[in-house]
Amino acid sequence: MKTIFSGIQPSGVITLGNYIGAIRQFIELQNDYDCYFCVVDQHAITVPQDRLKLRKNIRTLAALYIAAGLDPQKATLFIQSEVPAHSQAAWMLQCISYIGELERMTQFKDKSAGKEAVSAGLLTYPPLMAADILLYGTDLVPVGEDQKQHLELTRNLAERFNNRYNEIFTIPEVRIPKVGARIMSLQDPLKKMSKSDANQKAFITMLDEPKQIEKKIKSAVTDSDGIVQFDQKNKPGISNLLSIYSILGNKTVQELEEYYAGKGYGEFKTDLAEVVLNYIIPIQERFRQLVESQELDDILDKGAEKAALKANKMVKKMEKAMGLGRKRR
Ligand code: TYM
Repeated sequence: MKTIFSGIQPSGVITLGNYIGAIRQFIELQNDYDCYFCVVDQHAITVPQDRLKLRKNIRTLAALYIAAGLDPQKATLFIQSEVPAHSQAAWMLQCISYIGELERMTQFKDKSAGKEAVSAGLLTYPPLMAADILLYGTDLVPVGEDQKQHLELTRNLAERFNNRYNEIFTIPEVRIPKVGARIMSLQDPLKKMSKSDANQKAFITMLDEPKQIEKKIKSAVTDSDGIVQFDQKNKPGISNLLSIYSILGNKTVQELEEYYAGKGYGEFKTDLAEVVLNYIIPIQERFRQLVESQELDDILDKGAEKAALKANKMVKKMEKAMGLGRKRR
C-alpha cells in the first residue's frame, strides 16, 4: 500500500480554505493509502505564538481532523513535537540545504518581508517539512497550491541525499486538487484565504458561529456588475465564491451559473451561506463532543507511538548514511 503524509499548522483555527484544499482530500484518500496526518506544531513556532493559544489550537486541530471525517482506525493522526524523529531528521536535512535555495522560497519572502527580527526557523522551515514527509517513505503529499514550491524543494533534498549518501528516500509526488486548491480571501480575492490574516472578515474558520459565517459571506467582496459568472481574471471575488459553492454544494460551476442567471449576488450569497452552514454545522457538533474527550488523547497517543516506530527507523538509516554516532556491533 502506498503512503501519504500531510500536515497542517495549528497557528489558528483552520479555515474553510484548509478544509477544502487539504482535509477534504485526506478524507477521500484515507481508504486507499497508508496515511499519516500531522498537527505540525513545530512549524507554528517559526513565528511568535502565545503558548496557551498554541496548546488550545493544537487540540482543536486534532479534533477537527476527526470531526471532519478522518478515521483513526484507518489513518495515523499525531502531533509533530511528540515524535522527536522529526526534529532529528530536520537537522540532518538542514545540513544539506543551501541558504540560497531557502531564501528563494516565496513563503519565506512573504513572511519575512519588512520585518527586522526574522527567526532562523522561518528560513529553515522547509527542511523540517521535508523531514516530515521523507521520514515515512511517503509516495504522495496532498496539499493546496501554496505548498507546491516546498514540495519541489523536498524532492530536491531527497534526491541530493540519495545521491550524496545512500538511496534511502522515496521521492514524493505532490497532489493538488483540481478545484479548490487556492481558496481566496473574502475581502481581497487576489490574496489566498489564510488563518493568520489580520482581517477576521477575510476568512471563515471551521468553528465560526453560524451567524458570523452568514455575515462574512454577505460582506464578501465581489464586483459591481451583478452577474454570477466564473471569470477568475476579471471577477475574482464571485469566482472564488462560485468555487466554494460548487465544491461544498456538489454542483458544477456551469450549473450554478445557469441557475443564477438573471438573479443577483444577494440571493446567491444567501444560498451559499446555507450550503456552507449545512456542511460546517455537523462538523462543529462532532468537534464539541471530541475536543475535551479522553478518546482524543488516546487517538493521539496511539498515533504518536505508531508514527515514531516508523520515523525512528528512518532516522537510524539517515544517521548511518551520514556517518553519525557509532557503528552498532
Ligand atoms: P498550512 O497550515 O498553511 O495549510 C494546511 C493545508 O491547507 C492548504 N491551504 C489551502 N488550500 C486551499 N486554499 C487556501 N486558501 C489554503 N490555505 C492553506 C495548504 O496548502 C496545506 O495543504 N507547510 C505546511 C504544513 C506542513 C506540511 C508538511 C504539509 C508541514 N509539514 C508536510 C504537507 C506535508 C503549511 O504551512 O500548511
